[in-house]
Amino acid sequence: MATIKAVRGTRDLLPPDTTLWNHVEASARSVFARYGFGEIRTPLFEVTELFARSVGEETDIVSKEMYTWEDRGRAESDRGQSLTLRPENTAGVVRAYIEHGMADSGMIEKLFYIGPQFRRERPQRGRYRQFWQIGAEVLGPPWSGSDSALRDAEVLEMLATLLDELGVKGWHLALNSVGSAEDRQRYSDALREALAPVKHLMCEDNQRRAETNPLRVLDSKDPNDQGIIDGLPKIADFLGEDSRAHFEQVKAALDVCGVPYTVEPRLVRGLDYYTRTTFEFTVPDGNGLGTQNALLGGGRYDGLSEMLGGPRAPGIGFAIGEDRLILTLQAQATEQEPKKLDAFIAPMGVAQNPGALKLAQELRRAGLTVEVGDGNFRLKKSFEAADKLARRMVIFGEDEASSGLLTVKDFSAGEQEKIPREELAAALKG
Ligand code: HAM
Repeated sequence: MATIKAVRGTRDLLPPDTTLWNHVEASARSVFARYGFGEIRTPLFEVTELFARSVGEETDIVSKEMYTWEDRGRAESDRGQSLTLRPENTAGVVRAYIEHGMADSGMIEKLFYIGPQFRRERPQRGRYRQFWQIGAEVLGPPWSGSDSALRDAEVLEMLATLLDELGVKGWHLALNSVGSAEDRQRYSDALREALAPVKHLMCEDNQRRAETNPLRVLDSKDPNDQGIIDGLPKIADFLGEDSRAHFEQVKAALDVCGVPYTVEPRLVRGLDYYTRTTFEFTVPDGNGLGTQNALLGGGRYDGLSEMLGGPRAPGIGFAIGEDRLILTLQAQATEQEPKKLDAFIAPMGVAQNPGALKLAQELRRAGLTVEVGDGNFRLKKSFEAADKLARRMVIFGEDEASSGLLTVKDFSAGEQEKIPREELAAALKG
C-alpha cells in the first residue's frame, strides 16, 4: 500500500533538531522579557477580509499564496464565511488589540508571538508552506509615544541583541523609510507616471502592478525587468519633512547603540501596511539559506489599526523566519558531540525490570537524565546501547537489588566501581 507523506512544503521537526528550536525560542522569550514584552496567542485562522484589508489585495501573499476556504455554516441561522489560514501574524495581533480595547490603557503594548504561518509558495530550501515566525509588535495611541523613533531603534537594537546572543554570525541590517501614507501616495503617483511609457516591456504581473499598486513593482524578482526598476524614482526623494526627520532619529539612535546598518532605498517590503521605517536582516550567501537570505523583516504600520476599523494606534514590529534562523545556526555551528544521558540502567534478566524501573524513577526524580534497558538484552547489547546513549551504565542484577550496592561503569574513564544506592544520584551528577 502506498504510504502517506507530509504535504509538500510542510515538514516534521524531529529530535535532535527540536532541541535547537527550543533553545532559540527560550532565548527569544528571555530577550523579550528583558524588553518588557508579553506573549499573545491569536487563532491560526481568521476571516479572509482581515488579510485583504491589511496586507493588501495586490500583494503576492493575498493574491496568490493564501489558504482560503468557504466555511459552511452548520445551522440555517449560521452564515457561511470565507476563512484563511494566517499567512502572517501582524494583522491578527492588531485585530486582537482593537477587539480587546487595548488602546484604552493609554499605554504602549509590547506583544510577542511564536507560531506557524501558512503561505502557498513554491517550496525550496528556507521557503515552506507552513513555516514558523517569532515576532513582536509595539503599538499604542499616539500619546503613548508609540510613533517615536526611539521605539523603532529599540526594536532594532533588541533584534541585534537576540541575534548576537544566539551567536548568529555576519548578520546585516538593511534599513529604509517608505514615508507616511501621503508620501507613499506621491511616490506611487510618480512611479505610475514613470512606468506608463515602459510597462509594456515588462512581465504581465508588473504590467498589472504598474497600474494597480506600482510600489509592488519594486519587489519584483523578474530578471528582465530589473533594468527598468533600477531606473525608477527613489522613495528617499519623496519623503516629507516629518518622515525624513523620523528616519534621521532612528539612524542616530542606532549609531549611539552601535547597531550597524545600511540604507537600502529599494526596500519597500511585500506588504501594504508599512509606513516610514522598513527593515530586513539578512545573512551572507553560504550560510544555509540558499537564495532565501532574509532572516527576518519588519517595519512601522502607523495606519494599520485604522485600516481595520480601530483607533489611531501607530506601531512597529518584525517577524523572524524561525526555520531560516535554525538553518543558519546549523550551517554556522561547529560539529558538536550530542549530549549524553547521565545514566543507562541495565537490568540483568527480565525479573529485574520492575526494580530497574524503580531505580530509574528515583534518579529521574532527583533530576538526572536516565534510560532503562531491558532484562531481555544480552549483556553485550546493553553495553553497546549504554555506550551510545549515556556517560555511565548502572548494572542492576539480583545481587545489586539485594545488597543495595550498584555496579557503575564510567565509559570515559573506563572504570567500574560499586556505589551504595543512597549515594548513587550524587555520584552520577558528577
Ligand atoms: P514577511 O517579510 O512576510 O513579514 O515575513 C517575515 C519573515 O518570515 C521573512 O523574513 C522570512 O524569514 C520568514 N518567511 C516568510 N515567508 C516564509 C516561507 N514561506 N518560508 C519560510 N520563512 C518565511 C511579515 O510576515 C510581517 N508580519 C512582519 C512584521 C511584523 N512587520 C511588522 N510586524
